[in-house]
Amino acid sequence: MINMTKSIYSILDKAYNTYSLDKSEISYLLKTEENNKIFSAADKVRKEHVGDKVHLRALIEFSNYCKQDCLYCGLRRSNTKIIRYRLEPQEIINSTKKATEYGYKTIVLQSGEDLYYTIDRMSKIISEIKKFDIAVTLSIGEKTFEEYKAYREAGADRYLLRIETTDEVLYAKLNPGMSLKNRMRCLEDIKKLYYEVGSGIMVGLPGQTIESIAEDIAYFKSIPIDMAGVGPFIYHPDTPIEKTKGNYFELTLKVMAILRLLMPNINIPATTAMDVLNSNGRLIALQCGANVVMPNATETTYRKYYEIYPGKICINDSPKYCRFCIESKIKSINRNVAKSKGYHRSSLNLAEKHERTQK
Ligand code: 5AD
Ligand code: FES
Repeated sequence: MINMTKSIYSILDKAYNTYSLDKSEISYLLKTEENNKIFSAADKVRKEHVGDKVHLRALIEFSNYCKQDCLYCGLRRSNTKIIRYRLEPQEIINSTKKATEYGYKTIVLQSGEDLYYTIDRMSKIISEIKKFDIAVTLSIGEKTFEEYKAYREAGADRYLLRIETTDEVLYAKLNPGMSLKNRMRCLEDIKKLYYEVGSGIMVGLPGQTIESIAEDIAYFKSIPIDMAGVGPFIYHPDTPIEKTKGNYFELTLKVMAILRLLMPNINIPATTAMDVLNSNGRLIALQCGANVVMPNATETTYRKYYEIYPGKICINDSPKYCRFCIESKIKSINRNVAKSKGYHRSSLNLAEKHERTQK
């Protein structure tokens, strides 16, 4: 039972001094209306631990085919309204090269779970784009240990796989044919292979509780993850999920802020979905704990078809436009774009560890 006399200040002090809070304290922060106190604490911790630089990760959405059927996602296989596309390996390589010419130091290759990209095809793409001297992040879903191993050996540095929710019952309901247990196994495999581990959740899923979000945060700390991507759930009319009422913008910001307090030097993106709910969403997130932005580097022709949720921003813009637009936005809040690859500090020797396992 949470001690209701405990003030927000004592919880924030504890977080600041120990980087740890128990679940009831996390829930207290998620429930309180004193949001601004949490946001300014997170902004201070962000500044002290990861500084004012903002790391850019160019996102290439290379296929919207997906074999899974997640109830919330517009790319789900049962959605027959969506026009499907996939890029040929050479197109992915060309898009990546273009992105590096705009100064990006990290490329995120993201897709639905598309079986067209076999181990062989995917490994070739990875080893080709690694020649551009960039960090490579994969966000391509649940795979076997062998697949993750092959991609790591081909040169992938980071892997992004949101847990979505650690509530087992809710997970099973929202992700038919999938299991929380297997998703956790994937994250463990990714960790074992010395990738930088990125995970995260959606906030505002129908049936999600504050207590389960507190569990999610504790889970991330237990791994511990190197990167946390948190975004609001946005209802897609071509999916069978129920519509949620309420606006989860502030709650999503609070989750980011609490993650910053508890894991002060991880990378936290100001997620694109934040801009759907507020046109300054990403800039606000950057001032509540976030230190990364993932601008879209997908060719304009494909963007509108990668409709995970409706109202996606920048669907008519070009990779070049997004690159310069984001930089000017970042400058408008007195922050600067980082020039380095932006590894998580505690994982800088992962490449070395990985090499040792190869011998
Ligand atoms: N609203 C917001 N985010 C969504 N995602 C999937 N569907 C939605 C939605 N309707 C997120 C998931 C996934 C990421 C690529 O997009 O968290 O991991
Ligand atoms: Fe593609 Fe969930 S619908 S992974």
